[in-house]
Parts: sequence; structure tokens; C-alpha cells
Amino acid sequence: MKALVLSGGKGTRLRPLTFTCAKQLIPVANKPILGYVLDQVAATSIKEVGIITAPETGHFVEAYVADGSAWGLTVCYVPQQPLGLAHAVKTARGFLGQDSFVMCLGDNVTGQGLEGFIKKFNAEHLDALIILKEVDVPSSFGIAQLDKEGNIVRLVEKPKTPMGNLAIIGTYLFSNRVHDAIERIGPSWRGELEITDAIQEMINMGFAVKAEILDSWWLDTGKKDDILSANAIILDEYVQFDVKGSVVNSNIVGRVKVEVDAQIINSIVRGPCVIGRNVLVENSFIGPYTSIGDDSKICNSSLEYCVVQNGVTVRDVERLEDSLIGKNAKVIRNTRGRTLKLHVGDYSELEV
Ligand code: G1P
Repeated sequence: MKALVLSGGKGTRLRPLTFTCAKQLIPVANKPILGYVLDQVAATSIKEVGIITAPETGHFVEAYVADGSAWGLTVCYVPQQPLGLAHAVKTARGFLGQDSFVMCLGDNVTGQGLEGFIKKFNAEHLDALIILKEVDVPSSFGIAQLDKEGNIVRLVEKPKTPMGNLAIIGTYLFSNRVHDAIERIGPSWRGELEITDAIQEMINMGFAVKAEILDSWWLDTGKKDDILSANAIILDEYVQFDVKGSVVNSNIVGRVKVEVDAQIINSIVRGPCVIGRNVLVENSFIGPYTSIGDDSKICNSSLEYCVVQNGVTVRDVERLEDSLIGKNAKVIRNTRGRTLKLHVGDYSELEV
């Protein structure tokens, strides 16, 4: 079995961060989301991984994953125009050959890992196993309708009138028969070759298609608030008390990770949170569910429930909450009365 990890797409809902980075590389708890996806692949017996990349951001993905040896995997890259998930499978046909494969979205992580799904897929000799989860806004996802026995009756991509709330979460297992189904479908109303349509076609062709409902958390990090909640969940799941940097006259409470060369001076840090390498936190409060990227400086400020990427400066800011701050950005309080002085990139959002 192989793995196909999708790291293409335009990431328009995460602009401006995605002008200089692939959406799958946005860090949660100071590590790119794609890193967690590859961790989960590496925890199975799969060794060969194909990564689908987009023309604009593929080089960022290749710079991060390289040959995959950091995960003990062999990685090859398959550039693709963003024309749908089934189109991605079609484009990767050369890499996939006759093997069955797990397909994962590079910006989706679950709390469950892949091994259980692979066991079920193999034991029941399936042609497709798709993973589902209840959602609040079904019209934003591929939706599956099941019968009383749990068999899939129908699948619809982003239904205007949803027939249920079980969304396809972006973890799929396929036999090589999926390629026959993809040959038989055409582009959807949004002009894409949809994997949802291909799975429906597999059902129509009488192949063995089953669904499993996820019983853990699922993170789909396509928008700002999703990144913040993903950061909170990952911090909650993975961070242990581990202070490598220096702490001077400060109070570190709970599960806080402070990387090497970081300095915490005259401050309070309340976990769960991570403070990256070579970060300076001085006269500040860092509240729960915050990640501070490497080489950042937080001075005379208070932050909570924030994702701060590398090289950021936050100075004299009384209270920053629910914020996502891109690389090398500066957030500095203006001391000249009530004037706001901004230098903001395209598609930025400021609430003042
Ligand atoms: C894709 C799939 C959709 C699935 C979703 C999960 O949607 O087409 O079926 O529910 O991922 O994130 P997209 O991200 O392309 O809108």
C-alpha cells in the first residue's frame, strides 16, 4: 500500500499567509500541519508517499519534506493543476501503479491515526473505505447518506440541500479500481473532477465501498479560526512541560514547552503553549493555547489563544486574543494617541 498526500490547492481562504507559504505548511503548535499528516503515515507500514503539489507553492512543500527521510519515508512529488481530488489521483497514476493507497488531505489531521482503517480495508477486501464525521455546516463538504446498516447509499459534493450531516473528512482508502471509476466521471459544476463523484461511480459499478465514522477529533485547517482551534487541540494533545530555554524571574504554569535559546524574563506563561527557539518574552503574559514561533520577540504585551509565526515582534500591546500572525510581522502599540498607523499586506484582516 502507498500513500497519496494532497498538498496542492490555492489556500485562498487563508490569504495573505498563503501568498508566501502553502496552506499545508501553516504551523500549529510550531509545526506545519503537513508534518502531523506525515507522522500519521509514518506510523503505519506504508513507506512510499506521493505528494501532490501546486505550481505556486510546491517548492515550499519540497523544501520542508525533502526526500521524506526525516519521517523514514520515501517521498516523490507530483505537480498538479488544482482541478479536483479525482484529477489529483489521475495525475498520480504513474506513481500509484496497481497498488492500493491511502489518500490524505495535507491540511487535515485526525486524532485517530490510519492503522485501524488500513486493517479494516485489508480484512474486508474493500475497494474504497471513506471516513466520515458529523458536521454543523454540511453544505461546505462532501456528504454521505447511509442506510440503516451503515452502507453508503449516496454521496453528494457540497449539497445545496443536504441529505444528512455526515461529511467526508479527507481520509480515503482505495484499491486500484478507483482509476476505472475516475475514467467514467466528468467535471462537476465547480469545474473539478470530484473524488466524491468517483466514489459514487464505484458504488454504481458494484465495487465494495464502505464508510467508517470517525470517533475522534478532526481538524480541517482551511480558515483562520480553524487554525486557532487546531492549535488549541494539538497543544492539548501533545505538549508536555519541557523547559530548555532560560527562565528569569518568571512564572511558568502547566504544560509549557520552551525551546532552546528562548528567554522568558519577568513574565507569566500559562500552558498549554509552546515558545519557539530564540524567542524573547519580556514583561509579558502568554496565556493558554498560544504558540510563539522561532526568533519572535514579545515585550510588554499580553497574548492568549494566538498563533504567532516565526520572526514576529509584538510590543506594548495590552491584549491580543484569537489572532493569527504571519512570519516577520510587527504588531506594535502606537504611543501617539488614538491614531492607527498600518502597513498591512493584501487580504489581511484587522479588527481594531
Ligand atoms: C474536499 C472534498 C470534500 C471533503 C473536504 C474535507 O473539499 O471535496 O468532499 O468533505 O475536502 O475537507 P474542498 O476542500 O476541495 O472544498
